[in-house]
Amino acid sequence: MSDMPPLEYFPVIDVGPLMKGLVIGGLGIFHVFLAQFAIGGGMLLCYLQWLHMRGACRLARRFADDYFKVLVLVSFVLGAVTGVAMWFTSIQVSPRTIATMVREFHWVWATEWTFFCLEVVAGYLFYRYGPRLTDPARLQLLLLYSGASWMSLFWINGILSWQLTPGGWLESHDVWAGFFNPGFLPSLIFRTISAAAIAALAACVLVNAVGGFSREERHELVAVCARPLVAMLAMPLVGAWYLATMPADSRGWTTGGSVPMTLFLTMAVGSSTLVGLYAVVAILRQRLCVNGATATLLLALAFAATAGGEFVREGVRKPFTIREYLYSNSIARDGIGQLRQRGCATDDPYPLRDAAAYPNAQLALGAKVFRVQCSVCHTLEGMNAVCELAATWSIDQRRLNIAQLQRTKPFMPPFAGTPAEVEAVVQLIGWIRAGRPPDWEEAHDAAVLAQIGRWLDEAGTGPGDARLAATGPLR
Ligand code: HEC
Repeated sequence: MSDMPPLEYFPVIDVGPLMKGLVIGGLGIFHVFLAQFAIGGGMLLCYLQWLHMRGACRLARRFADDYFKVLVLVSFVLGAVTGVAMWFTSIQVSPRTIATMVREFHWVWATEWTFFCLEVVAGYLFYRYGPRLTDPARLQLLLLYSGASWMSLFWINGILSWQLTPGGWLESHDVWAGFFNPGFLPSLIFRTISAAAIAALAACVLVNAVGGFSREERHELVAVCARPLVAMLAMPLVGAWYLATMPADSRGWTTGGSVPMTLFLTMAVGSSTLVGLYAVVAILRQRLCVNGATATLLLALAFAATAGGEFVREGVRKPFTIREYLYSNSIARDGIGQLRQRGCATDDPYPLRDAAAYPNAQLALGAKVFRVQCSVCHTLEGMNAVCELAATWSIDQRRLNIAQLQRTKPFMPPFAGTPAEVEAVVQLIGWIRAGRPPDWEEAHDAAVLAQIGRWLDEAGTGPGDARLAATGPLR
């Protein structure tokens, strides 16, 4: 790991008052939901085709063709567009994370991409020729389609779960140690179950939405399409397994350490429990026929569960994007010490967009330090605004709390710069709070810088202790 530079500079994108993480998060949730629909939909189509061939459901084939059209439209068009949009924004927001993922796993990405192409080809062939093919040929094509889409989940899941639980990879940098990381299996199984559930609920919506089925026929189809929902019974167990593979401090965020994280996990668990209970008790046991409104509500709950789950999965990595390796602000875990000497802005080749707006060089330095170290998670005055968060602090509290960032809130990385850079950020906050006056004196008090240096040393260069998160700043 020592050959890894502490920091690599990429052009920085500025999304104004929005938080960058939120932009990716929003797109990511949509994309995951659609992708899981595509995977589960493929499996459901195979099941319907198989039922039809066994003569077990006379409506299966007709409904399969309706379902497939929606699936193709949604997964190919919306799924592909949100997928590209998500990677595009991720590259803007966290280029170094994505660069590391591509560098470590390029053949895995390539393999995933190959399966995705296969999925598209099989899907297109079925779209074009499906209605005319013989039953065995239809089944084969659907198996190819759904096998390929599940395989693309298999490959991407290894890379995504590696970010949270890199496991043995941290020592060996071995691709397979990273790919088959501790979170790989529970997350693959969990996602497969979610995919089956989402597709089943979407089918229940569709049964009610397409015309041409009588009430009895709708009832029969709902009963058939809802069967995969039984798999949701395994969700608590697999979910608990997944949580157990998480690093203890990550898990700590979801059990009270971070209020939003705990709320989102509760939302995910609560919504899936409601869907699961309704599915198993009402649809499968009491054989109720869900109407369009109920089915839509259930699907919306499944979306909420996916959103909560994805938010938690992205959030619990903090302060890392790759656990124990790369901090959320793209600074290498092992590079903090070096940057404390060298400064994080010293080698930054990119000029400030609004350099003329700062009355002195110290404030401009503060703006650069903020851009490098803080801007992934904060804005100065918009969402999660640093100037608001530190508004009530005295100037010395600002110095102390920023120098000891990982103690202030353990989901922040340690400060990765010199005492002068801490002071520059503190001055920047003071200047903005004062209403950006055109004249602002630089502050270079040697005693203050020495004190900041001691605070930096005291906090050390490692990540904070998440178990202390609930208690807030240590002091
Ligand atoms: C990994 C994301 C992340 C990074 C990087 C980050 N922060 Fe934070 N920071 C947060 C979050 C999340 C909070 C909690 C906000 C809240 O409590 O509403 C926070 C809180 C704060 C607070 C308020 C703390 C308190 O106790 O109320 C300050 C001040 C702050 N950050 C400053 C900074 C500065 C300065 C930097 C850069 C040197 C930085 N942060 C980098 C995520 C981050």
